[in-house]
Formats: sequence, structure tokens, C-alpha cells
Amino acid sequence: MTQTPVLAIVLAAGKGTRMKSDTPKVMHALAGAPLLVHVLSAAKAASVEEICVVVGPGMDEVAGVARGLDPGLPVFVQREQRGTADAVKAAQDAFAGFAGSVIILYGDTPLLRPETIGTLRAALAEGADLVVIGFETEDPTGYGRLLLDECGTLIGIREEKDASAEERAIKLCNSGIMGFGGKTLTDLLARIGNANAKGEFYLTDAVALARAGGLDTRMLRGEADEVLGVNSRAELAQAEAAMQARLRDKVMAEGATLVAPETVFLSHDTKIGRDVIIEPNVFFGPGVVVEDGATIHSFCHFVDAHIGPNAEVGPYARLRPGAELGPNTKVGNFVEIKKSQLAEGAKVNHLTYIGDTSIGARANIGAGTITCNYDGVAKHRTEIGAGAFIGSNSSLVAPVKIGEGAYVGSGSVISKDVTPDALALTRAPQEERPGWAARFRKRQTRK
Ligand code: UD1
Ligand code: CA
Repeated sequence: MTQTPVLAIVLAAGKGTRMKSDTPKVMHALAGAPLLVHVLSAAKAASVEEICVVVGPGMDEVAGVARGLDPGLPVFVQREQRGTADAVKAAQDAFAGFAGSVIILYGDTPLLRPETIGTLRAALAEGADLVVIGFETEDPTGYGRLLLDECGTLIGIREEKDASAEERAIKLCNSGIMGFGGKTLTDLLARIGNANAKGEFYLTDAVALARAGGLDTRMLRGEADEVLGVNSRAELAQAEAAMQARLRDKVMAEGATLVAPETVFLSHDTKIGRDVIIEPNVFFGPGVVVEDGATIHSFCHFVDAHIGPNAEVGPYARLRPGAELGPNTKVGNFVEIKKSQLAEGAKVNHLTYIGDTSIGARANIGAGTITCNYDGVAKHRTEIGAGAFIGSNSSLVAPVKIGEGAYVGSGSVISKDVTPDALALTRAPQEERPGWAARFRKRQTRK
């Protein structure tokens, strides 16, 4: 039996007034990615056949994020924010001729799991006309309340502003995730009005209309922490906490040790191998991969970086975009690395900046080495050969090449290439004046 195809419409046109922000709500980041990306990824992971997004006028950035995930993804503009039903109507071209079911997702529910979309889909496949994912919470403030009849059948949704005191006491809420079988959506949408406290066209009114028409309406229970809607900064922080807990559990389940999990911040795409040890207080921005057996000491900050097998990083190391550490490399305290490759066994242990550089296998970079990669206009590369030794407190003025096995004397400013196995140093010769210090002190005390 072939499954009925499903179209997911993701609503993201709301201004998000309660965020008090110049950034559209769905662009606020959760685990390093915009809220919208989390919802779109869940829809993709649930193998939904078609996805489209509804944005507000001028939300080009939001459309860009959606198209970044899938260049062919249709983006519709809702001219005026007149409510969730009106937003769905904006995507009419996507569902009018669509031979399948339609699922509505809200761009501000980033914790939604693909499995939950799957259960909704299964209920539609069984023949339900309208399915709503509900959840129970001790604090239902702000959510639409689900109205059930004596048999527990879903008969309506009441928005908080329109609810009676009695209805407000209901703790069963609307997650916003709804599914419509066949042509149900088109039929119901046409009948939704805006006679309510907000003067908006509520998609939630579809439930009572469906009941009145004798349709099969159902409620599926979801987890509160999965369907949390982000409307304010406080809710964003709450969602972040829930997402972080989930991501930490995942990397631990895959074989990483987090010594103090609650202090490690992960991104939605962080990849961590087996037997990786992560000490307290480490930040993983987007695009980080840590391979098996690596150790990450405390207080590190990583973005777009690759840490090879059995590497040791930190404490206090910063890996910026394009940092690639090979197997068994060591990067120590107060070291910053950007757009650079460290081959197997290379060591950069203390107080160093490495930018636009390739470091050969087993090369040793001394404390306080700086690659001077930027001349104020352009960036230049430094190449350090395998087995080279850079003495402490050296400046390597790029573009420059240090040959394999070469030595750079401590405190040198290297601006010309160094041949393999040579010693290069630019230090001024040391001068000694015997007794000078004693004479100096004497002069000072006489004054
Ligand atoms: C909505 C539901 C409420 C539910 C809650 C769950 C309605 C009427 N209410 O309320 O029952 O408990 O979500 O989080 O549906 N949007 C548009 N265009 C608009 C209005 C909204 O695209 O004109 C989008 C928003 O960008 C957002 C989503 O729809 O992604 C929900 O809108 P929001 O204003 O957050 O609705 P809630 O008041 O949270
Ligand atoms: Ca909301």
C-alpha cells in the first residue's frame, strides 16, 4: 500500500512582538541554528513529501534560511498578519492541487521531534479528518485550550483571550501542530471567520467547524517539552535548556564522557565520537566535529572546527572556522587557531595565534608564536614543514614558508622563507656590561 503523500506548511510570518526584537522570531538561534531550521529539519527527518514556508513581507532573511536547506522549497508571503488561518491561506497554491494530507507546523516550536510528525501522519493515514497534537502543562498561559466532550473526543480549541475562567483552568493545550486529511483543509479554511478577541482568523477554529460537519477529529498527546512555543526571550531560554539536555544525552549515548554535562553547550550539528572526554565549561558553536578518543579540557570555544582522533585541546583554547586538527595533535592554553591545518602529532601548546597556516606532522610551535597573517588589506599563508621547531615568542610574517625540520630561534621575526633543516634567527646579539647594574643602583640612591 502506498502512503498518502503529506505536505507540511510551516508558518513563520508572525512578527513575534513578544520577543521585542528587530529580528524575526523564527530567526532567533537555538543550539546555533534559527528556530525555523529546527522545524524544517524535523519535517525533513519525518520524510514529509513536500514542505513550504509562509513568511511575512520583507522577511527575505527567513526565506533565505529556508532555501538554504532546500533551494526548491516554496516560500509564500502572507501580506498582513491576520492570524494562523490566514497564514495557511497564503500557501493555497501549494495545497489546492495537492493530492494528499496537509500538516501545519509553527516555525516557533523548535523542539518538535520527527517521530511526533510520524504519529500525526499515521492518524491521518487511518482516516482521521483533523488531528491536533495536544499536551498537558501546569502553566497553560498563552496556549489555546483543547475542549473535549465526555467521551474524550476533541470538539474545539479555545484561544486564551476568548476563554472563560473555567476554560482557562484547562491544562490540556494546543501545540499548534495540526493535520488535515484530503480536502478537509480547503473546505474548513473557507469557513473560518475572525469574530474573536483578537479579530484574527484562527486556524484553531477549524476543529469546531469540523465537528459541526460530522468529521472525525482527534487529539494525540505530545510531550510538553517537545511542543513548547517560543514567544518570548524567557521561553527561548527554556527551549534552549530543553534542547541542550537532549543534545547532551545524545552525545553521551553515543559514547562521549561529559564530566559536567550541564556546563557543556552543544550546537544542533555537533558531532562527537566515542571515548571523547569533555571537561566542564566547553562551548561548541555550529559545524564542529570531534573524532574518537579526543580530550577537550575546560573553557574551550569552538566554531566550525575539526578535531582529529586522540587530539588534546585546551584548557582555554579557541578554534575558529577552518581549524583542522589532525590525529594526536595538541593545542594548549590560550591558543587561537583559524583556517589552519595541523598534521598528525603537531603541537601548539601555549599562548599562540595560528591563522591561515599549515603545520606539518610533529612540528612544534613554541609559546607565544604569532603568525602575522594580515597586512591590513589581505590575508597571507604560512607554511610550516613537518618536524619544524618554532622557538618561543617568534613572529612569522606571512606569506612565509618554514622548511621541514628547520629551526627558528626564539624571539625571531621571520619574514623570509627558511630552507629545510636550517636555523633562522633574527635576534640582536646579546651584549653584557659587567657591574653596570650595581653602578646604576648606586647613582639612584645618591640622588
Ligand atoms: C498558537 C495557537 C494556540 C497554540 C499555540 C502553540 C492559533 C490561533 N493559536 O498561538 O492555540 O496553543 O500557537 O504554540 O493558532 N503566524 C503567521 N501569521 C499570522 C499569525 C501567526 O504566520 O498571521 C505564525 C507565527 O509566525 C508562528 C505561528 O504562526 O510561527 C503561531 O503564531 P503565534 O502568534 O505564535 O500564535 P500563539 O499565540 O502562540
Ligand atoms: Ca506561538
